[in-house]
Amino acid sequence: MAKRLDLKDVDIYYGSFQAVDGVTLSIPPNSVTAFIGPSGCGKSTVLRALNRMHEVVPGARVEGEVLLDGEDIYAPNVDPVSVRRTIGMVFQRPNPFPTMSIRDNVVAGLKLQGVKNKKVLDEVAERSLRGANLWNEVKDRLNKPGGSLSGGQQQRLCIARAIAVQPEVLLMDEPCSALDPISTLAIEDLIANLKKQYTIVIVTHNMQQAARVSDQTAFFNLRATGEPGRLVEIGDTEKVFSTPTEKATEDYISGRFG
Ligand SMILES: Nc1ncnc2c1ncn2[C@@H]1O[C@H](COP(=O)(O)OP(=O)(O)O)[C@@H](O)[C@H]1O
Ligand SMILES: [Mg+2]
Repeated sequence: MAKRLDLKDVDIYYGSFQAVDGVTLSIPPNSVTAFIGPSGCGKSTVLRALNRMHEVVPGARVEGEVLLDGEDIYAPNVDPVSVRRTIGMVFQRPNPFPTMSIRDNVVAGLKLQGVKNKKVLDEVAERSLRGANLWNEVKDRLNKPGGSLSGGQQQRLCIARAIAVQPEVLLMDEPCSALDPISTLAIEDLIANLKKQYTIVIVTHNMQQAARVSDQTAFFNLRATGEPGRLVEIGDTEKVFSTPTEKATEDYISGRFG
């Protein structure tokens, strides 16, 4: 089910401001790709261009090509809503619907799609919660509100919600930045499992995390303040962290800036 993504010379704008310049990279299926780089270099912007979330900002646009298994997700006949179903997203702060039950949070997307059959919804809720490694913690309180869970549980609930609609790619924007270290490790373990089924792209400001969870790492940077962000280097995580090709990458991963 997992699919590959290819970006070809992608430029990304907010109105007249160019935030990202000329990104070309490939994201193989069933792997984890980490986006790293200093704040403001366009990591989140590139991530949101991958499932057409970028264009919800008025005046925002994407140029170049984003291909999902060779199909341009920006082609005129493509429905952005279906792209966002196929390429799911998990955000920095867990954002469950706080008063909605745990079960209904997980199946919210399916209900929106018109699925009403209780047995089907219950099955999807269980499968997704198991997939998000949360089932054992919540199986006896599925009707309690999503807001009653801890931060780490809420983030796994959001991952369960994302996988309930059977996406092919999962995008995660600093999914652990609001979590404690134990919850962070739980999410990292989960990511390692999820890549068996999905293609994963994770933005992280935590370089140890990038080194722990990802197969390949993309380092983004700005040439100068006010200039667009660009991809400096992408490669196998081990290689990028041990023998990067670019001096800027080495400076960043060794903590000399950013
Ligand atoms: N909604 C927005 N409107 C205008 N500019 C934005 C918006 N979101 C981000 N930017 C700008 O785009 C650039 C890249 O931001 P972002 O992708 O958030 O960087 P990162 O995730 O690497 O910290 C920054 O200059 C930021 O100020
Ligand atoms: Mg960001």
